[in-house]
Amino acid sequence: MAKILTLTMNPALDLTVQLGPLQIGQVNRSDAMLSHAAGKGINVAQVLADLGHELTVAGFLGVDNQQPFETLFAKRGFVDEFVRVPGETRSNIKLAESSGRITDLNGPGPEVSPQAQQALAARVEQIASGFDAVVVAGSLPRGVTPQWLKTLLLRLNEMGLKVALDTSGEALRAGLEASPWMIKPNTEELADALDAPIISIAAQAEAAADLRRRGIEHVVISQGSEGVHWFSSNVALQALPPKVTVASTVGAGDSLLAGMVHGLLSGHKPEQTLRTATAIAAMAVTQIGFGINDPAQLKRLESGVNVRVLTA
Ligand SMILES: Nc1ncnc2c1ncn2[C@@H]1O[C@H](COP(=O)(O)OP(=O)(O)OP(=O)(O)O)[C@@H](O)[C@H]1O
Ligand SMILES: [Mg+2]
Repeated sequence: MAKILTLTMNPALDLTVQLGPLQIGQVNRSDAMLSHAAGKGINVAQVLADLGHELTVAGFLGVDNQQPFETLFAKRGFVDEFVRVPGETRSNIKLAESSGRITDLNGPGPEVSPQAQQALAARVEQIASGFDAVVVAGSLPRGVTPQWLKTLLLRLNEMGLKVALDTSGEALRAGLEASPWMIKPNTEELADALDAPIISIAAQAEAAADLRRRGIEHVVISQGSEGVHWFSSNVALQALPPKVTVASTVGAGDSLLAGMVHGLLSGHKPEQTLRTATAIAAMAVTQIGFGINDPAQLKRLESGVNVRVLTA
């Protein structure tokens, strides 16, 4: 069991609305509505907790609607190091059609002041050395610059911490400059951050080699139902997930990241690490939520994952 800190700078209250085909501009009736405390780092924490790890969660949380988050943290036994900020944490509405298509409506979230940013940096500085890894996942809230993120990541690096980063856009660009231990972009996010179309396996391998020269040890590129490519020293592997019925892809990327961190911190062999992580991600898409509720199903999914050595 490892001790892991996850940072969620821009958490969200997810409201998942299940419905038939969405009629734009019409009155739609939903089959069910589910609300839960979320945000990428918090999602990753939940999957890691399911895998038996000890979690601390931090980031910025709006004081006006923090109750569902506090309830979740208490239920999951997470140590809560979130810095409270005035206002409400944003709400993200997910319209989940029966076809599996998801339409996201993401709220703006609170503006995070320089004082709150200093408070989080100080808190992380104080507690981080006790962790086996730090996962930094999701977007940045208003007021927080990519440069601030880069400074924080550089500091974690200096402290010798394994940092797994999953973000996009300018935050990913800045984060890459801090050479985290692991990154998990999807293909579009990586292409966007590197300003290059990265379509072929050869192009991915080349981009990964370049990132690894810059000090990023594990480059994990996810590509939805096409699976995952993982480049590291002595590792160039592809995992193809089993065919599953998609209920919702919410949490798929977070599940994959959690699975990768789990395998690496547990000292599992690369092939096993990638197989399990891909199965956990496949399991996420079969549910409206995510997480490991059925270990037997996870085993079945694992045996359906096809792992092979990548040759450019
Ligand atoms: N339809 C699917 N069937 C099986 N596995 C899937 C499917 N979609 C996604 N996955 C698994 O989940 C992983 C992550 O998905 P994806 O590449 O879409 O991540 P992402 O774009 O970061 O998503 P998000 O951040 O929205 O969770 C994939 O690498 C794959 O292993
Ligand atoms: Mg993602």
